[in-house]
Amino acid sequence: MMFEQIPVGELENFSYLVADEENKMAAVIDPAGNVSKILDVVKRRGLLLKYIINTHAHYDHVSGNDLVALKTGARVVMHAKSTLRKDVSVQDGDVIDLGNVRIKVIHTPGHTPESICLIVNGILITGDTLFIGECGRTDLPGGDSNDMYDSLFGKLTVLDGNLMVYPGHNYGNKPCSKLQDEIKTNYTLKPRSREEFIRFMSEP
Ligand SMILES: [Fe+2]
Repeated sequence: MMFEQIPVGELENFSYLVADEENKMAAVIDPAGNVSKILDVVKRRGLLLKYIINTHAHYDHVSGNDLVALKTGARVVMHAKSTLRKDVSVQDGDVIDLGNVRIKVIHTPGHTPESICLIVNGILITGDTLFIGECGRTDLPGGDSNDMYDSLFGKLTVLDGNLMVYPGHNYGNKPCSKLQDEIKTNYTLKPRSREEFIRFMSEP
């Protein structure tokens, strides 16, 4: 598998490229900001971009969709709850197939209703649900701390601790981190009751 983390945009966004090295089929996750950087990697590696996958519908994660689709013919994949234009709707548990590389979708609402995380070969791409040392905010339109609690503690922290977390923004002291280290050190993942977590998220 080929995997590349590509820093793009003014908000320290990360885009990601995932590809099956044999058949060259690839997906880009959250193309935004400086799209030419992504297209350069696609060209240099001779990839066939099949999918554009958005972890959620915020502008800083989707702003490159149209240009990348135009240049490559890739199809846009988002969770069914997204109201933006998409070619493929996915739900929790769905698998996006690139041949030998299979990307599993986990629905993780909280930051937004359509937020998803992706698991592929030991990698956990978390969008704006979980950052290194932080979690996504829930005070924007569609945000919900109750849903975030279920996503973080019901869906992410129960996964294999050896997964490497790759977030949607470079907000931490490093660009990626082991899930088990986040569970130990990320202050938003400290054990809390649902009520404590909701109160914690409402504090400035
Ligand atoms: Fe966001």
